[in-house]
Amino acid sequence: MENKFKFLLVVCGIVALVGCEKNDETRSIDPTIDNEAPVLREKANFGVGVAVKVNQLTDQYSTVVNESFNRLTAEYEMKMAHVWRGENEYKWNNIDGLIYYARKNNMDIHGHTILWYRSYPDWFKKPNYDSVSFENIIKSYIETLVGKYKGGIKSWDVANEIFNDDGTLRNDGCPVFKTFNDPIGFYARCFKYVKNADPHAKLFYNDYSISLAQKKRLAIKNMVKRFKSEGYPIDGLGDQFHIMLSNSKNHLQKGLMDMAGTGLLIHLSELDVRVNIHKSDNYVFSADEQQKQANMYQFIVESYEKLPQKQKFGITLWGVSDAHSWLTNWWHPKEYPLLFDKSYQRKPAYAGFLKGLSSD
Ligand code: GLA
Repeated sequence: MENKFKFLLVVCGIVALVGCEKNDETRSIDPTIDNEAPVLREKANFGVGVAVKVNQLTDQYSTVVNESFNRLTAEYEMKMAHVWRGENEYKWNNIDGLIYYARKNNMDIHGHTILWYRSYPDWFKKPNYDSVSFENIIKSYIETLVGKYKGGIKSWDVANEIFNDDGTLRNDGCPVFKTFNDPIGFYARCFKYVKNADPHAKLFYNDYSISLAQKKRLAIKNMVKRFKSEGYPIDGLGDQFHIMLSNSKNHLQKGLMDMAGTGLLIHLSELDVRVNIHKSDNYVFSADEQQKQANMYQFIVESYEKLPQKQKFGITLWGVSDAHSWLTNWWHPKEYPLLFDKSYQRKPAYAGFLKGLSSD
């Protein structure tokens, strides 16, 4: 009852906000930016997504989200620890709110993420389950979550970050590694549980630096081969693309092509481009630096466009504006990695992204 009430509140809030947004005549226009230029969602022939926080979908934040993007990812509200509060206790209201918002604004939702070593809840990690109990309880979580949103969430990151860059399996703090002799076998069965719960959803494996770290990429390709030969489902690979200006363009492009050699859908799933690469307190995001960032965005999008059209699932930005990036905490407060500045104005990076898109 309490949850239903909360959900109604969220829905009413969103209805009110969507209403406001339609009548918003106060959007500021920056004369230096071509606000008449096409928007990403209209020009791209693949999905353009953005990671959002549900409670921020108001005012200018939602205006730019609705204008430029057609796919939403919850930045954290769909992660296990946020959803699964006790063995039979779930927190659905944020996901329900996001689904409502996406439907209203004609967008898809990419579900992120079902299994991730950093988001198993503490209550689940405590008992030290044996492998059979561990798998049974995770299976029931998957069936509950994916089953509840069947048809409403079109794609899922089923597993996130299970490999180290050297291709070994991650073991630090990963309960799957310490519970199973064959962790990949466990993940394969989880992909199957997701498929059974929603046969039409597209299922992804997601990780960072797949294009840049050759050994990690090889391990992932081997996992895909194993899934296919043993009859387990997988539709796509997501490379997060938390990129730095200093990354090798050549490696990025070659790695991306190599990933596409699997024949799977390819998602650039958490794109941002770090500029303050030395974490300098004196860093200035000068016009020159802004242009370098725009060129990098253009290059990434052009490289993505070179993939076979049927494999282009889409590109997702990891945050709306430079005011909403995880990097200002985790990397350096002087960081400007996204397409909109702190006042929601399109940056040269936005124009770079647009330029990278094929025009036909
Ligand atoms: C990883 C995860 C994301 C997010 C970022 C940091 O890339 O996949 O969900 O937590 O770290 O924001």
